[in-house]
Amino acid sequence: MPAHAADAVVPAPSAPVEAKNSTFVDKHPDQFSSWKATSEQSERSDALGEDPRMVILWAGYPFSRDYNKPRGHAYAVTDVRESLRTGAPKTAEDGPLPMACWSCKSPDVARLIQKEGEEGYFHGKWARGGPEIVNDLGCADCHNTASPEFAQGKPALTISRPYIERGLVSIGKPFDKASNNDKQSMVCAQCHVEYYFSGADKAVKLPWDDGTRVEDMEKYYDTIAFSDWTNSLSKAPMVKAQHPEYETWRTGIHGKNNVSCVDCHMPKVQNTQGKLYTDHKIGNPFDKFGQTCANCHTQDKATLQDIVAERKAAIQALKLKVENQLVHAHFEAKAAWDAGATEAEMKPILTDIRHAQWRWDLAIASHGIHMHAPEEGLRILGSALDKAADARTKLVRLLATKGITEEIQLPDISTKEKAQQAVGLNMQQITAEKQDFLETVVPQWDEQARKAGLLSQ
Ligand code: HEC
Ligand code: HEC
Ligand code: HEC
Ligand code: HEC
Repeated sequence: MPAHAADAVVPAPSAPVEAKNSTFVDKHPDQFSSWKATSEQSERSDALGEDPRMVILWAGYPFSRDYNKPRGHAYAVTDVRESLRTGAPKTAEDGPLPMACWSCKSPDVARLIQKEGEEGYFHGKWARGGPEIVNDLGCADCHNTASPEFAQGKPALTISRPYIERGLVSIGKPFDKASNNDKQSMVCAQCHVEYYFSGADKAVKLPWDDGTRVEDMEKYYDTIAFSDWTNSLSKAPMVKAQHPEYETWRTGIHGKNNVSCVDCHMPKVQNTQGKLYTDHKIGNPFDKFGQTCANCHTQDKATLQDIVAERKAAIQALKLKVENQLVHAHFEAKAAWDAGATEAEMKPILTDIRHAQWRWDLAIASHGIHMHAPEEGLRILGSALDKAADARTKLVRLLATKGITEEIQLPDISTKEKAQQAVGLNMQQITAEKQDFLETVVPQWDEQARKAGLLSQ
């Protein structure tokens, strides 16, 4: 039987994973230069600065220090190093975060997993990976770069993270049985999914055993009594959503029609010789309207952009309503504890807060939900609003039994700085330590990586 390129099963790479992206510049110049151009998407926007309520919702968790919106793939390693969330470790054993925090940043992760196994890779603190995980998110994250197919210019798409393959199997969609179209979304699902850190080594795991809807994953987390942290005001056991684009996209009209992530984010375009190739400058599909939306739709760009903008505004408005309720709920729960409430009295309230915030977080952490699945976004936020209101109704009753009938006043949280002060963060110290880390530790990491031949330059 003749081998069809699209059907060819790509074997797991037997040759070592090559994480240095520049290795492929000569063979695949168009893909390389368009990939490189993600560095043009350099704008970093401070989500906590725009919306300080989130500092309260994430009180006691590193996200309350620093949270930026996503930007170009070329910045993945830079941004995880610079984030205040990763702290300022001085040695390979210093915390606060585990190795798992590198998992969606670089092809060096695929390289290390191949070399050390998953157990070896996940073992230890984030700082251990500093001198190893140095190349920008690139070719070997999505391609079997060691395969002859790739050398011939075929995609040879691959899942370079075994824990993702297990997640796909758990929903009955193993990668090697998937259509080419499905694979195009699955390579993105290696990182654009919900996951958590499981077990002593804090290995990445997908919470998909019961399905990929918000309720399914909530049930999963409740069943294993998982929490990422305890909110320092309300003491509610919280779950932080990651970036579940794959899960939410599946529920939307495009996902249901199997319009893949790649159909919109990586269109086929022509090079100067008129040859078609896949544009690797993953960004906003509206920037290439003629090769994306217009392939399937007859409306003009402005019409479709208006529709998306309206949906974004609707999601944004509901999101803020949920946040306002949750901010009050966290402070009211704190007031109830302070007034002597018992664990038993608080339990149902804290469960409502946990569920409300998980739903809110999943909706907003899935960037682009207003485009990918606007109805699901509104549905999830609506249920979050209900649950937050349930928590507050119960809180009012409980507070009354403790003799508190007046409204619980909020501190000034009108700016990020004030909100961070209100939850007791010493940002001056955190920022100074980070600066020192970036000036002293990071250059050593790069130096070691260069000596070990892991970097091209
Ligand atoms: C985020 C995932 C991702 C990354 C990173 C990535 N690619 Fe791709 N690549 C794809 C997808 C998806 C396709 C299109 C697959 C299809 O058409 O079925 C593709 C297609 C290709 C092809 C096949 C020819 C073509 O243009 O369609 C080549 C060659 C290629 N990429 C090279 C590279 C190189 C070189 C790098 C690193 C500089 C890279 N890719 C980085 C996902 C990625
Ligand atoms: C190896 C992990 C990984 C893979 C695979 C991956 N991404 Fe990403 N993606 C990220 C990270 C991390 C960021 C945020 C980078 C930052 O802000 O520093 C990001 C950012 C983005 C952005 C925001 C870009 C911008 O300029 O605002 C889009 C859009 C995106 N990814 C789409 C995709 C699509 C589509 C695919 C599949 C073809 C994909 N990603 C595959 C990890 C990944
Ligand atoms: C039908 C087209 C379409 C499909 C399919 C699609 N996207 Fe998007 N995506 C968009 C558009 C358009 C935007 C920007 C919306 C806007 O302008 O506000 C976007 C935004 C994003 C963002 C947010 C970027 C940012 O800077 O905030 C990410 C991340 C993303 N998409 C990833 C994915 C992934 C992963 C998939 C597949 C699971 C996917 N997209 C499928 C059209 C699509
Ligand atoms: C590969 C084909 C394809 C691409 C590319 C594509 N769409 Fe669609 N789109 C569809 C299909 C199929 C439907 C469902 C049509 C139906 O059921 O009548 C749809 C439906 C829609 C709808 C109406 C359904 C709803 O959500 O209310 C909008 C709006 C839309 N697309 C916007 C976009 C935008 C914006 C882009 C580019 C960022 C885009 N589409 C890219 C195929 C595509």
